[in-house]
Amino acid sequence: MHKRTLIKNAVLVNEGEVYEGALLIQNHHIEQVLRGRDAMPTQPADQVIDAQGAYLLPGVIDTHVHLREPGYTHKGDMRTETAAAAAGGVTTVLDMPNTVPQTLTFEALEEKMALAKAKSLVNYGFYIGASNTNAEELSKINPRHVCGIKVFMGSSTGNMLVDQEEALRKVFSLQGLPIVTHCEDSVTIAENMQAAKAAYGYDPEVAQHSEIRSAEACYRSTALAVKMARECGTRLHVAHVSTAKELELFSAEDKHITAEVCLPHLVFTTADYARLGTRIKCNPAVKSATDRDALRTALNGDIVTTVGTDHAPHLLSEKVGGAARAVSGMPMVQFSLPAMLGLVDEGVLSIARLVQLMCHNPAETFQIENRGYLREGYKADLVVVRPDSPWTLTPNLIESKCNWSPLEGRVFRHRVEKTFVNGYLLYNNGHITDYDHTGEAVTYDR
Ligand code: DOR
Ligand code: ZN
Repeated sequence: MHKRTLIKNAVLVNEGEVYEGALLIQNHHIEQVLRGRDAMPTQPADQVIDAQGAYLLPGVIDTHVHLREPGYTHKGDMRTETAAAAAGGVTTVLDMPNTVPQTLTFEALEEKMALAKAKSLVNYGFYIGASNTNAEELSKINPRHVCGIKVFMGSSTGNMLVDQEEALRKVFSLQGLPIVTHCEDSVTIAENMQAAKAAYGYDPEVAQHSEIRSAEACYRSTALAVKMARECGTRLHVAHVSTAKELELFSAEDKHITAEVCLPHLVFTTADYARLGTRIKCNPAVKSATDRDALRTALNGDIVTTVGTDHAPHLLSEKVGGAARAVSGMPMVQFSLPAMLGLVDEGVLSIARLVQLMCHNPAETFQIENRGYLREGYKADLVVVRPDSPWTLTPNLIESKCNWSPLEGRVFRHRVEKTFVNGYLLYNNGHITDYDHTGEAVTYDR
C-alpha cells in the first residue's frame, strides 16, 4: 500500500534556490518536488497538508551531538535527546564517542547501534573514537558502519585524549573515513590552569575558562591537525573552530581540510559569562566578540562547511562551581535551527546558505546516502518552518532530559512546525507524535 502525503503551498529552500512549490511524499521517500504555487502532483495524495506559505527545508543533519547513552543517562538518553532533535527540525544526528564505555571498539559501536535502533526517534550515525593505542582496531572498521573517526587532540568530558604524535600520525594516515578533531592543546591548557589557580585559588571564576582554554590553545592544536592532515592526505574536518586566528590556518584550495562551527561560538561571547555563568561553559570555550564575528563572516566562505551544535547536555547541578569544577557543555540541538534562522534575519547568511551548512554539506562531508536534500527518491526527512511566528524559549518547551537551555528567555521569530523523519510526521505543532517511533541508521556512500 502506497501512502502519499502532499505538502502544498510551501516555500522550498534547496540547493541554492528559494521557491514556491509543493512536495509529494510516498511512504518513506520524496516522490515529487514541484515548482510553482499551484503545481499539482501526477499522483493523487491520501493526505494534503497546506503549509500556508511556510518554509519547507530538508531535515537538519547535526553532525556533532552527545546523546549520553550509554553511561551518562542521568544527563540525557537516546530517546530524550533525539526527541529534542525532532522538535528542532533535526532529522539525523551523528553521535560522539565519549560515552561509557567509550566508543573505541567495534563491540562498543554495536551496542550503541542496538540502543539507537530501539530508542532513537531520528536517524543516526556514530563516530568511533581514536585513542593512543587503537589505530589497529580503527583500520579494521568497515567504513560503512561509522560516520567518521573522532580524535580528541585536547581532553574534554570523558577523557579521550590522543596526545602522542606517533599515535596521531597513525590515525591521520588511515584512509576511507573522515577524521573529525577536537583541537585544544593540553599542555597550554594545563599551564594556563596552573597560573589561574595560583592567581585565583583552586576554582577560578568561570570567566577565566576562556583564558585557560585559550585562543592560543586552539590555534596550536588546530595548526598541528592541519599540518598533519596535509602531510598524511587526511580528509580532516576540524570540529567547533572557535577563533578568528584558527581560520587563517585553512586554505580554500585544500578541499580535504575543512572546518565546522558550532552554535555556542556563533551566539555567545565572553561577555555572556556575567549573565549566564557556567551555563555557557563549554570546550572549546566561547571567545571574544571579534572571534564570534569572524566565525559569522566565515559562514559565507569556503573554509567552514558545516554548522553543528555540540549538543552536550549536563544537569544544572553539575554546572556548579567555576572554571575548574563546573562541567563543560550545553544542550543545543532543539534550538539550533530557530537560532540560525535568527542569524538569517540579522543578515549574517542567507537561508539558502543555512540549508547548505546544516543539511546539504553535512550529508556531503560524511557521504550520507539519500538525505540532506529535497530530491526525488531521497528519504523524506523534512521540516516545515513558520516565519513571523514569534515565541519565547521557556523550560516547558524543552525535550532534553536536563530541562534547561542557555537560550532560555530568547525570542525567536521562526517556529519549527512539523518534522518528518523518513516520511513520518514525528513532530507536529509543539508535540512529538510518537515517542516510540524510531529512525534509521544512516548509510554511507563509500
Ligand atoms: O563542552 C564540551 N562538552 N566539549 C566537549 O568536547 C565535550 C562535551 C561533552 O561531552 O560534555
Ligand atoms: Zn562535542
